[in-house]
Amino acid sequence: MRNIAVMVSGGGTNLQALIDAEKAGKIPHGKITLVVASNDSAYALERAENNGIETVVVKRKAYENQDAFDKAIVETLHAHNIDMVVLAGYLSILGETVIQAYRDRIINIHPSLIPSFCGKGFYGLKVHEAALARGVKVTGATVHLVNEIPDGGRILKQKAVYIEDGDTAETLQRRVMEQAEWILLPEACEDIAKQLDEGENK
Ligand code: GRF
Repeated sequence: MRNIAVMVSGGGTNLQALIDAEKAGKIPHGKITLVVASNDSAYALERAENNGIETVVVKRKAYENQDAFDKAIVETLHAHNIDMVVLAGYLSILGETVIQAYRDRIINIHPSLIPSFCGKGFYGLKVHEAALARGVKVTGATVHLVNEIPDGGRILKQKAVYIEDGDTAETLQRRVMEQAEWILLPEACEDIAKQLDEGENK
């Protein structure tokens, strides 16, 4: 059984999907034991508290530089015996120190089919606005390992979602969440937890 930390910044619908999946027995090799938020107003914190999950807020601006912030993140994760990390709508940058400490043990959900509409500046609604502006007919979501390159790690899972006539960024975001993100993230989370449990992922 692996201890999972979920890192959040916003509404926490992906966190909720993970909580619901765990309750439904869909993450048998992992347990969400900590939620780390980048700010203290994230509704995701309420979702965690409502489900008896320990929470901690680590604010980037409370640290003088990226390295000090990274060290605080790693210390927090180690203090809670975390084995793997899930970024679920998390908006702070994690530097080299964190990536190294959890090499191939951090996964992220991105709301497009990487390599489209990803990298610096592509997050939240901006991703869907770019997809609509480009006029793509198909978008979707991607779960990938996190490395030093924003949205650059190995792709683990993807799921396509069709753009529909009249879509706005908001309606598209919702559909991508419902039809892709909330399905892929729990599946990928269990895959990595299982690999760690079985020692495949040394
Ligand atoms: C959403 O844009 C989602 O597509 C992306 O992060 C944002 C917030 O998600 N993954 P959440 O509701 O906080 O999980």
